[in-house]
Amino acid sequence: MRKQLIAGNWKMNGTIEETKTLIDGLLAGSYDDNIADMVICPPFTALTTAGKMLQESKIAVGAQDMSVHSNGAYTAEISSGMLLTVGVSFVILGHSERRQYHAETNQLVNAKAKVAIDAGLTPIICVGETLEDRESGNTETVIGQQIDGTLSEFSADLLSKSVIAYEPVWAIGTGKTAPPEMAQEVHRFIRDRIAGIDKNAAEKIQILYGGSVKPDNAKSLLSQPDIDGALVGGAALKADDFLKIINSL
Ligand code: 13P
Repeated sequence: MRKQLIAGNWKMNGTIEETKTLIDGLLAGSYDDNIADMVICPPFTALTTAGKMLQESKIAVGAQDMSVHSNGAYTAEISSGMLLTVGVSFVILGHSERRQYHAETNQLVNAKAKVAIDAGLTPIICVGETLEDRESGNTETVIGQQIDGTLSEFSADLLSKSVIAYEPVWAIGTGKTAPPEMAQEVHRFIRDRIAGIDKNAAEKIQILYGGSVKPDNAKSLLSQPDIDGALVGGAALKADDFLKIINSL
């Protein structure tokens, strides 16, 4: 039985004050950590605050990206080592917004994921098709390429230290969620693809769904056999909604 993981991607939202308020709200709530783990991914500037506030709690902290380099002349970049010093244990990699606005490729995401794991961080590796891909019947081709590319040269050991997130680009921030059966189909496809690398690791790896996950649709998505959690954007910015999502399990 795979444990569920509910991850909140705050994107470019959250001043220090807002971060404190949101985390206070999460800490005031409760959820069963035998069923699911929670991770929040605030912007870089709020990671120190989040790390300190959550140090003694069961809620983990993640970053939204990191550099493939460990140090040096890379203006504005943040390294895996720097993330570790502020209490970060997860990092989202290859989010479609990074791919779209910062030209991140499968190859770069693959390299970053290896660096992250090497540093002791758990990468949440994102894949997802655009509306055009889906409408032209290319969903599996695109997802297959993204999985093969981002997990290139991954061993069973590396897979056991990774999380995958399937986020159809057309469902992100649009209020249009993939119907649960459609999402399940892609999750199964991803798991089968990973089984091509290692069968056992494919059964164990958590594959999260992302794209307009809300309290009222979380249960139907998370009850699908190959959906092992959610990567939540907008609804992660309200403590009550995020708690409702994790408690819908
Ligand atoms: P929304 O939940 O706002 O659609 O965002 C999803 C997402 O991109 C999480 O990474």
